Amino acid sequence: MKGIVLAGGNGTRLHPLTIVGSKQLAPVYDKPMIYYPLSMLMLTGIRDILVVTRPSELPAFRALLGDGRQLGLSIDYVAQDKPRGIADAFRVGADHIYGEECALILGDNLFHGANLPSLLRRSALKVDGCVLFGQEVAAPQRFGVAEIDPRGRLVSIEEKPRRPRSNLAIPGLYFFDAQVVDITENLTPSARGELEITDVLRAYLEKGTAELVWLGRGVTWLDTGTHETLLEAATFVRDVQRRQGTRLGCIEEIAMYMGYIGPDDCHALGAQMGNSPYGQYVMERARSFSRGMPPKAFSEGL
Ligand code: TTP
Repeated sequence: MKGIVLAGGNGTRLHPLTIVGSKQLAPVYDKPMIYYPLSMLMLTGIRDILVVTRPSELPAFRALLGDGRQLGLSIDYVAQDKPRGIADAFRVGADHIYGEECALILGDNLFHGANLPSLLRRSALKVDGCVLFGQEVAAPQRFGVAEIDPRGRLVSIEEKPRRPRSNLAIPGLYFFDAQVVDITENLTPSARGELEITDVLRAYLEKGTAELVWLGRGVTWLDTGTHETLLEAATFVRDVQRRQGTRLGCIEEIAMYMGYIGPDDCHALGAQMGNSPYGQYVMERARSFSRGMPPKAFSEGL
């Protein structure tokens, strides 16, 4: 399965922060925002990843993540000349994913929770159509909303409804089969001229091949599109990290636990940032891993 991180958009709600510089490179406490969605793809087992950015920002993403080899990944980049919608990822990324299943994650979505990696791996194992996730939220009007029947089957999907039929929001992480490129090609852009992800999901729903997976209360899902939610996310990351002494979205550590790189490589990546607590953490995790800690069975909770 291939992966796409959608890291374009103008981030207008974050102005003036994002007039120069990308939202997805903005700090969420101790690391650039894109580390969090990237780590979700890595934990799903996806190693071939396309990053979609604004043209002006592409060099900055490349400077940060390179070709991904240092993390045992293959990372490619493509510019989206203007924000044409979330489903536009399948147009600009068509060459990258053609003929394969693909995961799409929004570059400003942050997930954390019990057994999430294993849930993602299970869900990605057999994608027959598309897999979308559902998460209960207090204000569903801000999101795509899923309506389900009493047996938990998906009935309808609505984008930012004024009167939501449920409180089940659809986070910005989806798995698709290889048909997604063709489905997107046949979409009509919305009134704002965008290719809407909701329309792609609806096309699968109409074919009876859209599967909804409930994330459950043990998973925290945050997006970071406003000044308030950006600060909330940073505070959340700091609080969890301070309490547990482990780091969220630490791509070097995840690459090591997933077996994409060895502990020596991980230690070397940490040493490059050795003057920061983050770099020291990466080195310490590499040393612990070499000593067999934490035991492999524990590494699910990354
Ligand atoms: P949005 O939050 O809908 O858009 P935005 O990031 O440009 O923010 P604003 O509303 O403040 O102007 O986008 C969600 C994610 O998808 C975000 O990571 C940006 C990304 N995106 C693209 O990469 N290309 C697009 O065409 C769109 C619409 C979004």
